[in-house]
Amino acid sequence: MISTSIEEAISQLKQGNLVAIPTETVYGLAANALDEKAVASIFAAKNRPHFDPLIVHCSSLNEVENYASEFPAPLRKLAENLWPGPLTVLLPKKNNISDLVTAGSSRCAFRVPNHPLTLEVLKSLPFPLAAPSANPFGYVSPTTAEHVENQLGEAISMVLDGGPCSVGLESTIVGWENGLVIYRLGGCTTEEIEKMAGVKISRVQTSSSKPAAPGMLDSHYAPKKKVVMVEDWNTTHCDCNQGYLFFGSQPFEAYHFRNLSEDGNIVEAAAQLFKFLRELDELPIEMIYAQWLPEAGLGRAINDRLKRASA
Ligand code: TXA
Ligand code: MG
Repeated sequence: MISTSIEEAISQLKQGNLVAIPTETVYGLAANALDEKAVASIFAAKNRPHFDPLIVHCSSLNEVENYASEFPAPLRKLAENLWPGPLTVLLPKKNNISDLVTAGSSRCAFRVPNHPLTLEVLKSLPFPLAAPSANPFGYVSPTTAEHVENQLGEAISMVLDGGPCSVGLESTIVGWENGLVIYRLGGCTTEEIEKMAGVKISRVQTSSSKPAAPGMLDSHYAPKKKVVMVEDWNTTHCDCNQGYLFFGSQPFEAYHFRNLSEDGNIVEAAAQLFKFLRELDELPIEMIYAQWLPEAGLGRAINDRLKRASA
């Protein structure tokens, strides 16, 4: 059921039920982070393996401190500057966060999301919300309430409709291991993070075949159709059995295509990416040919998602 009722969302969450919530990045599949039964039902609804830990969403930095045992100064500075926003911080957890949430890790992922409805829900609840992206495991993240309803509607109590997500890419995940580490590229750019933290990024480690480690599987965020990344369209002819994902001025007339941003606006491109991948996935095409974007700012995170979709 899609609804805009904050009261209903709060009531469902208090009963230990699953509610999809809007955030500025993507929709999350939320439940009481302090209730193990509720947390277990998130894994079941998504068909998500238990080795893949969940992000704990809080209403403020102060609330995060109830659950984190340490907050290294550069990470705190980042959180102070970028929360609420598309930043997730890995911090050593207190015992009140169960191992089920962190998949056994001593660190927990925390985020204060920037969406008015969800912030209101979080402020009204006496507990934080564990929430992964609200898609079946491995598939593209949802950026509208309808995306969630179409795939998970049967498995959850309600979808709180907060409109299309403004950022459209998942949060950037950072942590501290004798230096600032980025584990997932996302809605906050590396340039922004370096500036706000006041220290250099010591490592970007966004690939892992050992999924209990922070971050991500190489093949993820994937539509059902095969995705092929293209650096130079000159080698590709338009074929009406294929789909094309362009950015900026179009190299040729195509039959099945989407343009992430005709003006070459990277913020608009990020906001459209997952919606367009889903739409192309539904078309009668064999493959999706996607353009490489300039490797800077949000372009890096978009390329990362397309690369994983093509893996
Ligand atoms: O923007 C976002 O981050 C969205 C919205 C809903 O907040 N959430 C999201 O969650 O993308 P999810 O579960 O789809 O991706 C979270 C990533 C996973 O790759 C997971 O492995 C990693 O964060 N992660 C979560 N907790 C972790 C932990 N304790 N240690 C290492 N990695 C962790
Ligand atoms: Mg996800």
